[in-house]
Amino acid sequence: MEKLKIAGGYPLKGTVRISGAKNSAVALIPATILAESPVSIEGLPDISDVHILKDLLQEIGGTATFSENEMTVDPSSMISMPLPNGKVKKLRASYYLMGAMLGRFKKAVIGLPGGCHLGPRPIDQHIKGFEALGAKITNEQGAIYLRADELRGARIYLDVVSVGATINIMLAAVRAKGRTIIENAAKEPEIIDVATLLSNMGAKIKGAGTDVIRIDGVDKLHGCRHTIIPDRIEAGTYMILAAAVGEGILIDNVIPLHLESLIAKLKEMGVPIQNKDDQVYVGPAKDFKAVDIKTLVYPGFPTDLQQPFTSLLTKAEGSSVVTDTIYGARFKHIDELRRMNATIKVEGRSAIVNGPVQLQGAKVKASDLRAGAALVIAGLIAEGVTEITGLEHIDRGYSHLVEKLNGLGATAWREEMTKEEQEQMKNA
Ligand code: EPU
Repeated sequence: MEKLKIAGGYPLKGTVRISGAKNSAVALIPATILAESPVSIEGLPDISDVHILKDLLQEIGGTATFSENEMTVDPSSMISMPLPNGKVKKLRASYYLMGAMLGRFKKAVIGLPGGCHLGPRPIDQHIKGFEALGAKITNEQGAIYLRADELRGARIYLDVVSVGATINIMLAAVRAKGRTIIENAAKEPEIIDVATLLSNMGAKIKGAGTDVIRIDGVDKLHGCRHTIIPDRIEAGTYMILAAAVGEGILIDNVIPLHLESLIAKLKEMGVPIQNKDDQVYVGPAKDFKAVDIKTLVYPGFPTDLQQPFTSLLTKAEGSSVVTDTIYGARFKHIDELRRMNATIKVEGRSAIVNGPVQLQGAKVKASDLRAGAALVIAGLIAEGVTEITGLEHIDRGYSHLVEKLNGLGATAWREEMTKEEQEQMKNA
């Protein structure tokens, strides 16, 4: 088990290249199950979630290779193998195996998903969608059993705007008989990316990226080649980091339109930003104004950037309020930031950050992926050395983090934890 050490307080500059989108990748890879010939996906991020999904596709009889960020999956010999336990529980997005296997085999058994602990994360809207398409669903000993004699298109209104439910219903519906209409669908860019892959495979989908998606089912889907979109959350993390400790950083391979809400907030704080095609330049800022943020569904401020943004707000003059309307309990990073000298209090769904304060290096623990990103940024801002444990969370979503940070001039390194430290972690 390793920990990440960061010697903070130094300015960074240069160019950082953004990887493919994690939250697209974790849906695109299961989507390959629906085809009957090989699918290649280019530009995937080199993160643990991608490797686990590749292993899961092999467990159900497919072949999958991953090299130079490209995965090729041959789904022709896959079977509807039950996956009640094991690796399936290591990531939340394994719920996409439900939609994809149901679509292809009309049956699936999938262990209830794991992933980041952000408070309650129900999947009732996924289930509602599958049932509307004709599936019978039971929950037995922590695994979801899905079975349908046939899937029939239906009109499905989502009671909650959900990225996962929107994608999962699309996956099940592309090979259903007739037309499916998803109303109150989520509009995140990752949904458009998955719809693009499915369309290249021969699916008939209209309206992805709006709140009404129409799908006309087809009998079969074929292989194709697809290039994933850049990761807007990884890009946003580096933009926040650039604002906090940069002396001019160019973020390369980004779609600026996907980050308008973050760009607006950074500008409001006083950070100079210029967009160019697929790059964003974040200039150095002298003083930061306090700003309030409220997370919303896309195109609002993303919940996944709320935690990293909080670290930057410790440098702002005045009081900032961060409200998370998507995950009201996504505040586990706050205690750790306090250990680093931040002045933050949590009231209900909001964190109130008072600044500016000079963060100090400390031993802290990443409790989830974006909490980890927040601590990395805090470590870069802080005086002295910060030690971050819980790297398994960060490795789920940030490809080659240490190399990218050091490429910008940071001093960050991974170190094996001592036996005593590992014991302490287990008992904590
Ligand atoms: N919700 C329900 N019922 C459902 C589904 C969702 O009540 O059936 C609620 C959730 O509890 C939450 C809200 O609806 O309050 C939105 O959840 P959504 O389904 O959109 O989230 P998700 O699909 O499970 C994805 C990302 C998350 C990101 C959210 C919100 C993936 C694999 N995960 O989760 O990403 O925070 O959308 O944008 O795409 C991350 O990358 O760190 C991460 C957690």
